[in-house]
Amino acid sequence: MTTSPLAFPPDFLWGAATAAYQIEGAATEDGRTPSIWDTFSHTPGRTVGGDTGDVACDHYHRFRDDVKLMADIGLKSYRFSLSWPRIQPRGTGPANRRGLDFYQALVDELLANGIEPWVTLYHWDLPQELEDAGGWPARDTARRFADYAALAHEALGDRVRYWTTFNEPWCSAFLGYGSGVHAPGRSDPGDAVRAAHHLMLGHGLALQALGEAGITLNLYAVSPASPSEGDADAARRIDGLANRIFLDPILLGRYPDDVVADLAGVTDMSHVRDGDLATISAPLSMLGINYYSRHVVAAPEEGVEPEPYWRKQTSWPGSEDVRFVTRGLPVTEMNWEIDAPGLVETLTRVHREYPPVPLYVTENGAAFADEVVDGDVPDPRRVAYFDEHLRACHESIAAGVPLRGYFAWSLMDNFEWAWGYTKRFGLIHVDYATQLRTMKTSARWYAEVIRRNGLAAE
Ligand code: FCB
Repeated sequence: MTTSPLAFPPDFLWGAATAAYQIEGAATEDGRTPSIWDTFSHTPGRTVGGDTGDVACDHYHRFRDDVKLMADIGLKSYRFSLSWPRIQPRGTGPANRRGLDFYQALVDELLANGIEPWVTLYHWDLPQELEDAGGWPARDTARRFADYAALAHEALGDRVRYWTTFNEPWCSAFLGYGSGVHAPGRSDPGDAVRAAHHLMLGHGLALQALGEAGITLNLYAVSPASPSEGDADAARRIDGLANRIFLDPILLGRYPDDVVADLAGVTDMSHVRDGDLATISAPLSMLGINYYSRHVVAAPEEGVEPEPYWRKQTSWPGSEDVRFVTRGLPVTEMNWEIDAPGLVETLTRVHREYPPVPLYVTENGAAFADEVVDGDVPDPRRVAYFDEHLRACHESIAAGVPLRGYFAWSLMDNFEWAWGYTKRFGLIHVDYATQLRTMKTSARWYAEVIRRNGLAAE
């Protein structure tokens, strides 16, 4: 056997990821109640084409076939999220047996196929009843989350080894309550910052019930458009609000002073109570990093309007004047510039600047306008994207980063939030009219990477 020149560590965890609301469908079955994403997607004008997750990929009924496809690819692990309103429909009180049954069957099916289940407890689908009681800007939601985490862990903890609390709290807080482009679609910068804190508090409280667990953050490489002082300050601000506002409390037990200063016009941080940061910074068993692109930013310029970013600058309270700059690099269908070196920067930065913790890339991937051609889905640009980013992972490991696994986003095409079904990220193509699944070229390519435990030479 020839060893691949870009071999990965022997126990590297190769996976693919999804999220409950994006794939499950069965929105009203077996006792599930609406989440904020049901309400939001059913509100006219919130998602492209009025798309909803009512049916999605119908994974709730087709999970056995989907696990079979995972096994065909050779996945070592499958990252999926639990739907809180399925498991605990009112957001409080006892578990819904039928909701748990679904996840128990899914976990059993994965284990029977030699695939390690990787659970995310919260991938954005807050029970609507808890939103009506105040949502994430309300402190009580953190406590509710910890109770739900305990219920889920009680039911699945004997078979699931990998647990993460939240997926991308930045999006929940700043897109959900800041710009409002995500559910619940509220727009108040102070609420966004309070939500960020209560998400982290929920994480810390849940750690007490879970024992070993981690969290997934969406981190960005951030660079100034030029070496000017103004641009450097813009980069500092955006790095603060995108990355350090979560990394520092969770890994260092404090908020960064400069971020607190930038937010002074928005909040006095009086929602942070004594002891919260100790709870939030309890030891993690791993940190998941979702990486898609880089933010290149610049200072405000006289007479130049800041570029609208994710539709409203209120995604970045305290940084409203910062301009997001594009560099003319190739982009994906999301218009995100493809920047694999940014992944090396992100991984090595976390390793260098924070206490040691095992790292996983829990999402990385690209949307392209794929088409089925004679029963195949050729997606060479996605193959190139994965290849470049896996090279970046390899380079990071060689530089000493404790990177233990990689999850492609996504296992299959799915409901891409506000973009509905218009953006395809899958290794597997889904025909939403027939629910037919077709492996894309990238799925076959990824299967080869996993089989070889590495990448071929240039
Ligand atoms: C991430 C989300 C995931 C998916 C990808 C494209 O922000 O975690 O659900 O939408 O982006």
